[in-house]
Amino acid sequence: MIQPAPQVELAAQIRDLQKHYVLKSETVRALRGVSFDVPQGDYVAIMGASGSGKSTLLNLLGCLDRPTFGSFVLGDDDVAKMTDDQLSNIRASRIGFVFQSYNLIPQLTVVENIEVPLYYLGRLGTKSRERCKKLATMVGLGDRLSHRPTQLSGGQQQRVAIARSMVNDPYFILADEATGNLDSVTTEEILAIFQMLNDEGRTIIMVTHEDEVSHYAKRVIRLKDGEIMFDQPIENRQIFCAERISKISQNADVKMDDSYS
Ligand SMILES: Nc1ncnc2c1ncn2[C@@H]1O[C@H](COP(=O)(O)OP(=O)(O)OP(=O)(O)O)[C@@H](O)[C@H]1O
Ligand SMILES: [Mg+2]
Repeated sequence: MIQPAPQVELAAQIRDLQKHYVLKSETVRALRGVSFDVPQGDYVAIMGASGSGKSTLLNLLGCLDRPTFGSFVLGDDDVAKMTDDQLSNIRASRIGFVFQSYNLIPQLTVVENIEVPLYYLGRLGTKSRERCKKLATMVGLGDRLSHRPTQLSGGQQQRVAIARSMVNDPYFILADEATGNLDSVTTEEILAIFQMLNDEGRTIIMVTHEDEVSHYAKRVIRLKDGEIMFDQPIENRQIFCAERISKISQNADVKMDDSYS
């Protein structure tokens, strides 16, 4: 007897997604009908030349914008049909963002920065404070809880941003050139954290210009002129060894470096 294929839960289902920007003299078709599924636990690198539609796609996936045509189903809901309030609600409650420029609040400590999405959701409390401390420790910042962004290195600031992206238990983490401002050693640290999260079942979608970075993902979607040129698994994927991954949280034991005091 033929066994039915196992049901894979989808984090997102994208069908014929189009985005047109209407300007005075022309209409820019930034996305021209993009379709793909993102199974839960996937790790996708979105690549393509400048102007190919990567940020447009990420903005749609992040519910920052609505498509002109097509559907984008997140969990059980079609984002294309949502009201503005529903969009901002789902964005705050179920999507994690990691930006190239970290976007931390300078006046807040590491833990407070991680708490920010919960503040907007009205979910702050003793329990949530403990969860944020755990998230900070998980990304290797257990000994930096009371530091402010200016007292952290670029890589550490990005770790805070990753911990913050996890706080609302997101459908997926969207990373836009998350390693774009970092040197190669720090880039590896951040990619090791992404792998750790992905190994735990988190879904990650990242935009990157760099081939070396995309090789740490499981799958690459390459855009050209607003269309998918190819969508395929990464062959010979780069994987950090278990020892490297286990070092991430141990870094929390490292004493404060003088240069950050
Ligand atoms: N708000 C907007 N209004 C009009 N056109 C836009 C708007 N945003 C993007 N575009 C156009 O849509 C196309 C895709 O832009 P997008 O920003 O998605 O590219 P990208 O792949 O992210 O490029 P880059 O690698 O340079 O960041 C481009 O031709 C761009 O000029
Ligand atoms: Mg862009």
